[in-house]
Amino acid sequence: MSGFKELMEKRRAVRDYEDRSVPVSLIRELLTDACEAPSGGNRQPWAFSVVTDKKMIRRLSDESKKNLLADMKAVRSPILRMYRPILSDESFNVFYNAPCLIYITGPKDVHSAVADCSLAAAYLMFSAAERGLGTCWIDLGSSIKDQGLLDELGITDDRRIIATIILGYPGAIPGKPPRNEPRILKIIE
Ligand SMILES: Cc1cc2nc3c(=O)[nH]c(=O)nc-3n(C[C@H](O)[C@H](O)[C@H](O)COP(=O)(O)O)c2cc1C
Repeated sequence: MSGFKELMEKRRAVRDYEDRSVPVSLIRELLTDACEAPSGGNRQPWAFSVVTDKKMIRRLSDESKKNLLADMKAVRSPILRMYRPILSDESFNVFYNAPCLIYITGPKDVHSAVADCSLAAAYLMFSAAERGLGTCWIDLGSSIKDQGLLDELGITDDRRIIATIILGYPGAIPGKPPRNEPRILKIIE
């Protein structure tokens, strides 16, 4: 077992995966670890939709790309517009051909759901890193609106996607992108 400091260094946003599937038993272990995350009132509002079917992952990538491109037309967001070239590229898979994709969803009416599910995502990513697996949070893959796809994922109307995490055995592990020093506004002693 690595120390936490070592584990923090080990977890990187991995965008290159081996063509090797992750056993469902192992994915279940990661989900159990994700549930160790703290949550408001210990409500544990998260739920997981796991996809290992390559064709389905591709369909979800195409759906999200389509919706983000449509959103770009409606909202003049410079950040979204930055992604237009890659989203317009038909061959681009927002999930980087990872063999597993996990949506973490929370109830729309639970105030702390975004924080709770994001914490579960962090626990999941650390648990994966500890086991030599790679992950990356893929916001570009979160825009799923098609009712058929949502039904297939088991995401009911009262829930929304909060975290989208890809998982697999890493090919290349990138170096650590630089971090800023903590911006401390004040320490009042
Ligand atoms: C909320 C969130 C959304 C992200 N969305 C994407 C994404 O859509 N595509 C992608 O390639 N990486 C995405 N990332 C990964 C970040 O780019 C990555 O975490 C960051 O560059 C720092 O690298 P590190 O995770 O190795 O420390 C996302 C990360 C977070 C936390």
